[in-house]
Amino acid sequence: MRLLQTSLPDIAILEPAIYEDSQGGSVQSFDEPAFHKALKEAGFPVPRPLIQDNHFCSRKGVLRGLRYQLPPRAQGNLIRVVNGSAYVVAVDVRRDSLTFGKWVGVELDAVSQRMLWIPEGFAHGFAALEDNTHFFCKTTNGYHKESERNVRWNDPDIGIDWPGFTEKTTGAEDAVAPLLKNSEPHSEFLQGTTELKDLKVIGDNRGSLIALEQGLNIPFAIKRVYYIYDTLSDVGRGFHAHRRLEQMAICVSGSCNIVIDDGASRQQVRLDSASKALIIRNMIWREMHEFSDDCVLLVLASEYYDESDYIRDYDQFIKEVSCGKK
Ligand code: TYD
Repeated sequence: MRLLQTSLPDIAILEPAIYEDSQGGSVQSFDEPAFHKALKEAGFPVPRPLIQDNHFCSRKGVLRGLRYQLPPRAQGNLIRVVNGSAYVVAVDVRRDSLTFGKWVGVELDAVSQRMLWIPEGFAHGFAALEDNTHFFCKTTNGYHKESERNVRWNDPDIGIDWPGFTEKTTGAEDAVAPLLKNSEPHSEFLQGTTELKDLKVIGDNRGSLIALEQGLNIPFAIKRVYYIYDTLSDVGRGFHAHRRLEQMAICVSGSCNIVIDDGASRQQVRLDSASKALIIRNMIWREMHEFSDDCVLLVLASEYYDESDYIRDYDQFIKEVSCGKK
């Protein structure tokens, strides 16, 4: 599987391997380890598992979207066209993002079998370029009508250059969807469970100093402090959640990316400054990636080390986090 970057840093085209023989041909349409490897190598966050497949069929000129789901039901979509061809568009709807409102469009067809990876936080839409076009979407969250939101396909502030049709047909909801500026924002953070804090820097002409004070800028009593350093750049750490423990992580030197996941929605935070602190509450899955050579990740923890507090299996985490929400 080969990954190609697009003009939006979070959106990728994936080219699967196609095999042909005397009986016809085959394509390995999804291989999770290869998908994750391709994303990791290109510096993309690894998404939550793709848990649902949806198959749509449209005639030429039909335009579906733009649609997205709000957290905690946000959806990442891996989109493939299995018959015909389509123009598939992704729009960044994360209000705090540097690329908010920016879009990318890619033509997908059943011959090349190229796929488009659109992570959570993006609206997507498709326009069928031929009759009997079939779209196949693998998604990280099931369809949830109450969480679904639309954005107007021809919002002038977004300015999508849809391919010209003699006839353009949209669904009733798509035709009256709100403009992006009036739409419900996709919040950047897992609300209530994680927080990115800017720490106060006490600087003078000698340099900078930051003070961490329990009960003031640290929201829990500290029982343990540890730091992670000399991590190899291609190594991922973490891959666990804690049942009780809360943490505050600060890259006091260098940088790393931390993926946080509450079982319904997944985001990546970049820690690249000694004045940024990520607070991670209990029952949050975390993964650390892309450690710079000089990275020293300082972690303040609310509990002593206790292996029984760890959940190291993602399926077990989903089970426990879902029970807690009932
Ligand atoms: P782990 O928490 O799995 O590290 P990471 O999340 O960065 O991948 O810990 C790695 C090993 O270190 C594991 O065997 C437990 C041990 N450990 C301690 O003994 N004390 C500690 O405070 C921590 C954080 C880990």
